[in-house]
Amino acid sequence: MSDTPRKILVTSALPYANGPIHLGHLLEYIQTDIWVRFQKLRGQQCTYVCADDAHGTAIMLKAEENGVTPEQQIAQVKADHEQDFADFQIQFDNYYSTHSPENRALSEMVFLRNKDAGYIVEKAITQLYDPQKGMFLADRFVKGTCPKCKAQDQYGDNCEVCGATYSPAELIEPYSAVSGATPVEKETTQLFFDLPKFEHMLRDWTRSGALQEQVANKLQEWIEDLQPWDISREAPYFGFEIPGYPGKYFYVWLDAPIGYMASFQNYCEREGLNFDDYWGKDSNAELYHFIGKDIINFHGLFWPAMLEGAGLRKPTAIYSHGFVTVNGAKMSKSRGTFIKARTYLDHLGPEYLRYYFAAKLSSRVDDFDLNLEDFAQRVNSDLVGKLVNIASRTGNFVKKFGGSLSTELDNPMLVREVQEAGPRIAEFYEQREFGKAMREIMALADHANGYIADKAPWALAKEEGKEQEVLAICSTAINVFRLLVIYLKPVLPALAERAEAFLQVAPLAWADANTLLLGHEIAKFKPLLGRIDMKQIEAMLEDSKSKDAPAESGKAEKTAAPKTQSDTTGEETISIDDFLKVKLRVARVAKAAHVDGADKLLQLTLDVGELGERNVFAGIKAKYSPEDLEGKLVVLVANLAPRKMKFGISEGMVLAAGPGGEDIHILSPDSGAKPGMEVR
Ligand code: MSP
Ligand code: ZN
Repeated sequence: MSDTPRKILVTSALPYANGPIHLGHLLEYIQTDIWVRFQKLRGQQCTYVCADDAHGTAIMLKAEENGVTPEQQIAQVKADHEQDFADFQIQFDNYYSTHSPENRALSEMVFLRNKDAGYIVEKAITQLYDPQKGMFLADRFVKGTCPKCKAQDQYGDNCEVCGATYSPAELIEPYSAVSGATPVEKETTQLFFDLPKFEHMLRDWTRSGALQEQVANKLQEWIEDLQPWDISREAPYFGFEIPGYPGKYFYVWLDAPIGYMASFQNYCEREGLNFDDYWGKDSNAELYHFIGKDIINFHGLFWPAMLEGAGLRKPTAIYSHGFVTVNGAKMSKSRGTFIKARTYLDHLGPEYLRYYFAAKLSSRVDDFDLNLEDFAQRVNSDLVGKLVNIASRTGNFVKKFGGSLSTELDNPMLVREVQEAGPRIAEFYEQREFGKAMREIMALADHANGYIADKAPWALAKEEGKEQEVLAICSTAINVFRLLVIYLKPVLPALAERAEAFLQVAPLAWADANTLLLGHEIAKFKPLLGRIDMKQIEAMLEDSKSKDAPAESGKAEKTAAPKTQSDTTGEETISIDDFLKVKLRVARVAKAAHVDGADKLLQLTLDVGELGERNVFAGIKAKYSPEDLEGKLVVLVANLAPRKMKFGISEGMVLAAGPGGEDIHILSPDSGAKPGMEVR
């Protein structure tokens, strides 16, 4: 370790202020927190800042849906996020919001400097506009039928079914995801950041060692085809108005990374640090951004270019991680594996997840599978079975034989071996090879447990005159335990605190591994960590299933706006997006018939106008006979996946009210409705 501490500024990506933190997010914040805690334990001057990403259309619409102002929406979510982070022992030096005066001033500064340097250009473009809502629609807010594979309800930029990419104007039957209206094309003038001008800088920078190899390769591809980047959005938009362009706002991704600077500036003001020491062109401070692989383009292309254009320093490195899957699949609400931070905490302690993430993390960008059985097994075996076991099998003998550790150890070689592993483990932490660090630590714990089993102090303790020997053995074990706790402290800070109380020592730093604890009084051993029971995990999954609306669990529920909760009926709410997925159409019953061998079903042939004919089996025979139905208008769920039944394929469902049997009532539009019409 060098004598003058390194000056390090670290960030994690800013979570959006429109939903709760989930286990996927936590991989990133836990990874970053471990790295930062490690640097601090090593005596570096390391600062960790973050903030909520509070701007943009999605948040504006979310607030509207919740019946609150955007300011109320982001304040509620920020409070929830901060509580979740604190409970996972993620320790920011500052947690701020992009909707802040510092961020406004810095965003204007970065923009104006780039403008003065000639990097901002105006261009007229045509964009889709929602005439009903009176707003321009970003790609994500236009939906329609994929021009390639004809799958319905695809987003305006790409098809989730066939993977095709296209522009929203190419969609068949486009509609606004905000209001359902058919969008129209409208011309506007927008501001563009002239990214192609930075091609040379970006080529050099991506090869400078600032990026993981996988990321650098991806960026090289993108650099081949740089395009000017649209940084403005039209009102209504929740964000900062662009100076000199009334009615136009900075696109959320312009001011989001500047939010890193703003949070740090807010911290500097409070703590008396010099902002320019870190962000000025000649800064000798190190700057690291931890991010997920989905936002590499923003951090690896636009961000360094904007900084360069504004005469500021660029990041030292960008550390990107992969995506969390649970039990081998994408997190899923129906399987209960879309697990919110709060739901997890309702069932399990934060340290288990911190350890498991550490045990499986590397410096690479690969995706990360959280297999819940492996999780329980690994945590129980490593933390309880190996680490805590060392202290629980020996601590009480020290108490019994006087309460103080011996001055001579029974096995100084073993303790020496653990001390010598320190620099190797430190290097693994530094390189973000946390998995390797954990394996090394657990191998040392295995040695210690082997030694204890060999010496069996519990047997010796029963013999006359062996007190000193037992004490020397247990003191050896306790010293190994103390060293391992130091090595694990970045991952398990709260466990380390409990261990410090047991050892009766001041907060441990990394350098304390150079010393031993001899002739020192310790406290009575108390259990440091319990085992995970698979029942807790099952209960968590159940809970996740029942609370699957992302914004409405636990604490979030308390703060959610009245409009989204139907507290009188207890019915779960869905978003307008969810609702718009269901395509309802008017249909006319062209033919109705009994089905041979079916006592509840009628077979309906429906005329759905331009969609042609559909065959539907409906369980309404107890109430209706075919003559009652022929010619009648009904409402059809038109985009229900076809279902193979015993009597044939049913291509949709007819809406009816009532519990069934004879108490069933088909919904019928009035006579003005035409077959094929959409129902909203
Ligand atoms: N607001 C932007 C970031 C702006 S940074 C200037 C954003 N927010 S996010 O809430 O969607 O994601 C925050 C971070 O969490 C991102 O780095 C993202 O990659 C990460 N993750 C979100 N879901 C994740 C998983 N399922 N797995 C791993 N990381 C995930 O993007
Ligand atoms: Zn498609």
